[in-house]
Amino acid sequence: MKKNTLKTGILVWSICCLITGNAIAQTPTLNLDFTRSGASVSPMLYGLMTEEINHAYDGGLYAELIRNRIFKDNKTTPEAWSLVKDGSVSSAAIKLMATEEENIPYDERRHAINGALQTCLRLTVEKVAGRVGIANEGYWGIPVKPSTTYNTSFYIKGTGRTEPFRWPWEPKPTTPPLPDIEDNAAGPITVSIESNDGKTVFASGTINLAKSIFWKKYALTLTTKADVKPTTDARFVITTDRVGEYYFNLVSLFPPTYNNKTNGFRPELIKMMADMNPKFLRFPGGNYLQGPLITDAFPWKTTLGPLEQRPGHKGSWGYRASDGLGLPEFLQWCEDIGAEPLLAVYGGYSLSGDHIDAGPLLQPYVEDALEEIEYVMGDVNTYWGAKRAADGHPVPFKLTYIEVGNEDWFDRSNSYDERFKQFRAAIEAKYPQLHVISSIAETQYPDLKITGNKKPEVVDEHYYRDSWEMWQNASQYDAYDRNGPKIFVGEWATREGAPTTNLNAALGDAAWMTGMERNSDLIIMSCYAPLFVNVNTSTATAPKAWQWDSDLIGYNALNSYGSPSYYVQKLFGNLLGDKIVPITANHIPTQPKPLTKRDSANGIKAAPQVPTIFYSATMDKKSGTVYLKLVNTTGKKQLVNINLNGVAIISPQATLLVIKGSKPEDTNTIMEPEKIVPASSAISGVASKFKRTLEPYSVSVFQMQVSK
Ligand code: AHR
Repeated sequence: MKKNTLKTGILVWSICCLITGNAIAQTPTLNLDFTRSGASVSPMLYGLMTEEINHAYDGGLYAELIRNRIFKDNKTTPEAWSLVKDGSVSSAAIKLMATEEENIPYDERRHAINGALQTCLRLTVEKVAGRVGIANEGYWGIPVKPSTTYNTSFYIKGTGRTEPFRWPWEPKPTTPPLPDIEDNAAGPITVSIESNDGKTVFASGTINLAKSIFWKKYALTLTTKADVKPTTDARFVITTDRVGEYYFNLVSLFPPTYNNKTNGFRPELIKMMADMNPKFLRFPGGNYLQGPLITDAFPWKTTLGPLEQRPGHKGSWGYRASDGLGLPEFLQWCEDIGAEPLLAVYGGYSLSGDHIDAGPLLQPYVEDALEEIEYVMGDVNTYWGAKRAADGHPVPFKLTYIEVGNEDWFDRSNSYDERFKQFRAAIEAKYPQLHVISSIAETQYPDLKITGNKKPEVVDEHYYRDSWEMWQNASQYDAYDRNGPKIFVGEWATREGAPTTNLNAALGDAAWMTGMERNSDLIIMSCYAPLFVNVNTSTATAPKAWQWDSDLIGYNALNSYGSPSYYVQKLFGNLLGDKIVPITANHIPTQPKPLTKRDSANGIKAAPQVPTIFYSATMDKKSGTVYLKLVNTTGKKQLVNINLNGVAIISPQATLLVIKGSKPEDTNTIMEPEKIVPASSAISGVASKFKRTLEPYSVSVFQMQVSK
């Protein structure tokens, strides 16, 4: 009789479960096991990845305000520059000079400053009443702030206009000569930051132009008044009140920079990065390392030394790179944020799909990589170490990891195996202390084998996914072979929201990071990408600033903000122990992941169930601080049981940091920069067994104190 009642009970319970699904689900329970010693957390688990994309440097971190300062951004038009002409009586024009290096017209010759600065801008003033000059619109405006001193400098020369020089054997002009313009009078040239309509001058100064037909560099400072209202509706202007032909090059304007360094960085962006506590910086890419063609790879050698020696280069994201932020500045950046450089060297494969065969053809590229490494870590007695010292940094930088190439799995020729082998052998022979990372991970692309004699020590995996995919795959590393290579997740992001990510993306990120953290014996490094985005949309004169949706930190010329994903990164990067605390979980609720087109193509017919709660815990062995991270991806509050097993003393008080929102699309913007930010509170009642309710759409970090 009793047996029958039990059977009926179980049947009724089962039917109930089937009908009501989660309605009578048991409370999710997390058992943190302090009896077992967990693996060590990688000390370099969280870092940053950077490249010139979305105007990350020019128009971003690199504080230069003048766009197209050496007039090479566009061969046909002086992009970002315009003629300023007050009064209709004046007659003046501007012209881009000597852009076609192979075919420079007669009247555009003899104006090169050096091999890097051979293009320039000419202002011809035939008649003048009032002021005439040139204006630069900056990177979507010039940021004006009160009581601020800007450093400006430029090369200028002023001459008259006569027939251009021709050798006797060269053909005579077919058009009538232009009327001579008398030699320009030496005298004042006005430099200002003013409103775009020219009606308000925010800061102004003059230089005294010498009478000379040769280039001369002038520098001055411009200071705004205390009552100036912050704006980006401003331009940079250089004007004259005298006729003549004026030539300009390397026109520069810097606001105050981080640590007041010349050629420096935007201070608030450095602070935002430093606040994330990153352990390394992966640079210079990404696609930016590779370049569209083999000849467009990141040209580190022409990014050294004074700006006068930096011609810039094509870049990989549709706009030219000034290279004002070059190799010395990447290294300075590492130092400024307390991170180690993780240098990616060009591996002989370009975005066009061309590659350089391993062997003698590749050897010069291998040598180039060795020289680049020497620039970073060689002492001052080495050739490139001495160059670094000349660039202002005699002390070698600490370097542990070198990556060869970027995403070489796109190389359909399968040449990477041999190329990697050649680079690795040369790097390890000269620098046995370095660890060489393969840009192909067999774990992610099992068909692309990196054979060689020895398996790569570390491989780079990249994941750009939506939040569902992140939730579905958050545990992927739990099952990885511990005898294979270590994993560097060198690019990853949950791609939802534009230009910066939204709360749902942050929930995808956080879930994914719990998986990396639980497996941080295997995942030795990871970095989100892309890091930066200039959020300006297109204007009449400038295109949209970004090429890649869903980025971490957004800004315009004046302000910056962190996405919800940024705040997740910040919490995870700062609240991390040195030992993994093993967790077993029961009754984690799941939800069906909507089927995608790709699922259907792959023959997947049933919606896979994905967890709705994600978790990881680490502990600082010395202090006994435990960091428990929990993610609730649903719109419902969720009660959880938390059991701390194997600790003798537990402080009932703890700190709780929560990032949350009311809907997945909630986000931060340049206008509303702090809608989603972490909130900190003190909680009590922490014990060996306690309960907490997770907020809807939330990431929670519990900072608890225990001892054994
Ligand atoms: O992060 C943006 C791009 O994505 C990187 O340049 C490239 O490596 C990846 O495909």
